[in-house]
Amino acid sequence: MDEPRAPGVRDGRRILVFDTTLRDGEQSPGATLTSDEKLEVADALVALGIDVMEAGFPAASPGDFEAVRSIAARVKGVAVAGLARCNAKDIERAAQAVRGAEAARIHTFIATSDIHLQHKLRMSRNEVLERVDAMVRLAKRFTSDVEFSAEDATRSDRDYLVEVFSRAVAAGATTLNVPDTVGYTTPPEYAALIQYLRERVHGAEDVVFSVHCHDDLGMATANTLAAVRAGATQVEVTVTGLGERAGNTSLEEVVMALATRGDRFDGRTGIHTEKLVPVSRLVSGLTGLAVQANKAIVGENAFAHEAGIHQDGMLKDRTTYEIMNPTDVGWEGTKLVVGKHSGRAGFRNALQEAGVRLDEERLNEAYQRFLELADRKKSVTAADLIALVDDQLEAEGAPVRLIRWNANIGSGGSATASVVVDKGGQEFAGDGEGNGAVNALLQAIDNAVGIPCELEEYTVEAVTPGEDAQGQVRLRVRANGGVYTGTGLATDVVEASARAYLAALSKIVLGAETAVIPGPVSAVSRWT
Ligand code: KIV
Ligand code: ZN
Repeated sequence: MDEPRAPGVRDGRRILVFDTTLRDGEQSPGATLTSDEKLEVADALVALGIDVMEAGFPAASPGDFEAVRSIAARVKGVAVAGLARCNAKDIERAAQAVRGAEAARIHTFIATSDIHLQHKLRMSRNEVLERVDAMVRLAKRFTSDVEFSAEDATRSDRDYLVEVFSRAVAAGATTLNVPDTVGYTTPPEYAALIQYLRERVHGAEDVVFSVHCHDDLGMATANTLAAVRAGATQVEVTVTGLGERAGNTSLEEVVMALATRGDRFDGRTGIHTEKLVPVSRLVSGLTGLAVQANKAIVGENAFAHEAGIHQDGMLKDRTTYEIMNPTDVGWEGTKLVVGKHSGRAGFRNALQEAGVRLDEERLNEAYQRFLELADRKKSVTAADLIALVDDQLEAEGAPVRLIRWNANIGSGGSATASVVVDKGGQEFAGDGEGNGAVNALLQAIDNAVGIPCELEEYTVEAVTPGEDAQGQVRLRVRANGGVYTGTGLATDVVEASARAYLAALSKIVLGAETAVIPGPVSAVSRWT
């Protein structure tokens, strides 16, 4: 059962997106950005459609000051905020840094919880109240747009918070931010706090209530959305949830929850959602912090389906397993991953998408080989499938086929190998010795089948990415004055070499001479 919506929450409210990727996000260990990189992110955030950009903490360092100053001078169409502790030096520095902005905001904060007052600030509640009053008034001399944050609000005494926020409003604050600084609150508790403050803070109706959550217990997005339901109209977020410790509320999660569940949250943002994936890629590329594969909205697997039942549903109607359209958030489309859970329908579809049509009998054989491959490989791409089917077609009816092989390699590259092959329905064994395992195995094949030929060209390539990639060997041999090609595919290049060699030998037996080496197999891994 849902809690009733807080009184005064209007349908279709505009929720302001305050992005703090360049301030709280940049506080992520290892996420430091250069000034040029910050400008690049700032431009992307403007294009994304955010409302307020917290560009940095100008008093933190000359570099931070300069970055905020140049962002403020450059970006248009958004408010630019500079963070400042509640002291005159910080506020003056922030004011200087954002002065050139089209719309300048000073965001000043001080802690209000007894834990912070006693152990960090060593100030009394009264001293903090006086400081808030004086510093908001000071900030107000530089800009009309002043945001005040009560750090550690969620562990602060509620009635003291009412007093602090009331003083901030009286001093001229236009936005009141209620941070869950240590990621401690829960959705119902946070919603109740927002409602409590909205009902009791003097002048609450004239200011914006803002929420700022951290993800220490994995509840940042849930807490933010609960607060929106309770009447907050500004959300403080970062791209992919970057930020101190476990991070901040993730921008894309809140934006897409509002867009997808407007019925629950009564709010819309001005975000151009189709830019969410490109912006997350940009930020991840510049910070070097990878986005986890299963991250909601922007993770590599966010729209990937492997289970056969899911793929079957998806092929019938996308809405069976997708609540958002991947193209709406910037993906090219749905990704049907072929793996061992895909089932025959998913396999057949993937082959068709890759342009391969097989009759029922060949499809069944290919499917069995696919299951073996899928057991060995983490994910099977379209390139794997094409290579697998190519290899199967190559081997069909081949007069010389591999049964089993073994190779041992010692120091200095010398190797021995043994092989058993089927030639015309009979088994032949052979041993070989050579410079490397491939060389030894090809000699073993020569000794087993006795088809004279000369190896003219040999290439090996990984046709699929990753450590467990399939290796494809293409080679060309000369025999009886003609040229014969062969391709072989396996996760082991020694085996792929043997298969390619036997394919060429089979052509010699069949007299299927060719001078054309087939082109490379292209990798297709995403279906729209
Ligand atoms: O988490 C926090 O309390 C903050 C404030 C500075 C708003 O980042
Ligand atoms: Zn924070």
